[in-house]
This record gives sequence, C-alpha cells and structure tokens, in this order.
Amino acid sequence: MLHDLKHLHSILADLPKAQLFVLTDSHTAEYCLPILADFIGKIPYHLLTIEAGEQSKNLASVQAVWDFMLKHRATREAVLINLGGGMITDLGGFAAATYMRGIRFVNIPTTLLAMVDASSGGKTGIDYQGIKNVIGTFTPPVATLIHPEFLRTLPATELLSGFAEMLKHALIASPKEWIKLLQLAQEELPQEQFVEALSSTGALQASIQIKENVVSQDPHEVGLRKILNFGHTVGHAIESTMLHHTTPRYTMLHQTSHGYCVLWGMVAEVYLSVVHTGCPREVLQQLTQIMLQWYGKPQCDCKQRDQLIQRMYQDKKNNANQTPNFTLLRNIGEPIINQYLTEEDINEALEYLFSL
Ligand code: GLY
Repeated sequence: MLHDLKHLHSILADLPKAQLFVLTDSHTAEYCLPILADFIGKIPYHLLTIEAGEQSKNLASVQAVWDFMLKHRATREAVLINLGGGMITDLGGFAAATYMRGIRFVNIPTTLLAMVDASSGGKTGIDYQGIKNVIGTFTPPVATLIHPEFLRTLPATELLSGFAEMLKHALIASPKEWIKLLQLAQEELPQEQFVEALSSTGALQASIQIKENVVSQDPHEVGLRKILNFGHTVGHAIESTMLHHTTPRYTMLHQTSHGYCVLWGMVAEVYLSVVHTGCPREVLQQLTQIMLQWYGKPQCDCKQRDQLIQRMYQDKKNNANQTPNFTLLRNIGEPIINQYLTEEDINEALEYLFSL
C-alpha cells in the first residue's frame, strides 16, 4: 500500500500496536528523523540508529535490531518504521520479518532509489559472505510512505542512481513515461528544479506505480516480476566487480553505484535487445546519450570482461544450468523474460558498452 507521509498518523492509528520502533541510519537520523518526528507527533517510540552505508547491511546489524527489540520487550504487536534508503528498508524489513516469526513494518524511503524500487515489493534481506541480498524474505510492508521533500537532502549521484531505475520502469512498461524522462534528462535542470519536476510531472508516482502493478501480479518473482530485472544481469556483475575492488576510489563509488551499474547494464542489454529481439536501434541511441551525458562510462575496464561474464554465470537469477538469464526488450513497454544468450553474444554487448 502506497501513501504520502502525511497519512502516517492514520495508518498508525489503524494498527493495534504494543510498541513503536524506528530504525534509521546515521544520515537519516540527522536529516530525516526531525521531519518524521513531526509526523509521528506524541506517539512514543524507541529509536535505533545504525551506521550509514552498504557495509552495515549484514547479520550483525540484524542482530542489533533483534537485541534492541528484545531489550524493549517487543511483542508480536510491535511495529517497526524503517526510515532510510534501500539498506535500511531491506535490513529493517528482514529484521521485522524474522523477529517472532514476523512483526509489521512501515517503510519510509528517503532516497529516490528506495522510493521507486527497494521500499515496495516486499523484498527484504542482507548481504552475506560478500554476496548482495543473498539472505532474505519476500515480506511486504504494511505501507510504504513517500515524502518527496526528502529528495532535497540528496547528492546528485544519489538522484541519478534512482533515476536509472525510473528509466528502467519506463523502458519495460511505458513509452509515454520514457518520453517524459527523456525530456527531463534533456532539460539539464538545476537539481532543485529537477527534484520538483519529478513530482510535478507525475514521473515519480508513475514509476512507483509501474513497480507496484508488476509486483501485485507476481509477488514472488515466478514469472512477470522478472521484467524488473532488466539491466540487472550485466548491472549486478559490474556492481559486484566494483564491490570486490579494494581501491579507495571504488569503495567510495559503490555507495551510490547501484543505479549507475543498472544504467550501464541496461545499455548492454538494450544492445542485446537490438541484436536478438528486434528492439529499435533508436532506443539504444537514446539510452547511450543519457549515459554519456549524465552517468559517464562504467568504472571497470575492458580487461575485466571475463570476470564480468563469470559473475553473470554465478547470478542468483540463473536457472539450474547456471546460464545467465536476461530480460530483453522487443520495444519500449514490451519486455521478454528468460532469454539465454551465449558468451559470445554477451561479450559483443560488453564490447559495445566499453567502446563508448
Ligand atoms: N528490484 C527488483 C524487484 O524488486 O523485483
């Protein structure tokens, strides 16, 4: 269920609850909690804050949430509010889904990426043994509450990271939204106006709605939901290569890179769509233009192509034969799932990406 944050009070009033808990990270505690506190009003709550950053999305943090709940004698009627980006909504959702076999939780995403993707759809989880999101559940939040004002606190790289997922939603579901986003990308608005335009054009709401529509038809990713993986087969391989890179430059980049990696992944996968499923070349040109204008080139070089392909073979989306599974496009709004390609095909798409 999606609502504006101003509905928080009525949602909490409708939830019979023993205790209210709020989970934040060190950034959202500073920038977003004061705003949330106004909306919570006089309802008492217990606050737990964990260190910001993907490195906190681990079992130790989940344990910290469980310990905190036990310390405050949280019962099954407790409600957890997750205030943050995808790290907090994934982690908090997982802690809530497993505490006493599941307590209710509300997601309040504070990044564009979390608003359009992570906070809705019920995927919860943590990274484990260096593998992203490998432990988790499908557990939907009671509600996801959107407050576009939070976007004003974000650096440009965070906005672009979320914008990439918006581009993905448009590509898999809506030629109309694709045109709207192309225009937004071309206008080169100052950041403040760009944030404003995301809401005033309806682009933000439409993007969230596309995801909600897909998830409501296939919550456990048996079929249709795989269309949301568009760009992610190549994107995850790039992301996990960067995650395992130890230089400070890569460590710094990976904090905001999920959307960037998806964008680069989509360029490669639109290339594959042009070659294998008849997608018009114009779509590849438009996406490549956005990449060069806003995102730059991938932060790993051509020498790592073998490593990238190897990572695609280890992806958790694969079938029993461990062959990389792609979602491709016949056209904008016409995705096609379960496409299996040869190493040669994949290599050709990577060659295009790295030649730009
Ligand atoms: N992030 C894609 C999904 O939720 O299925």
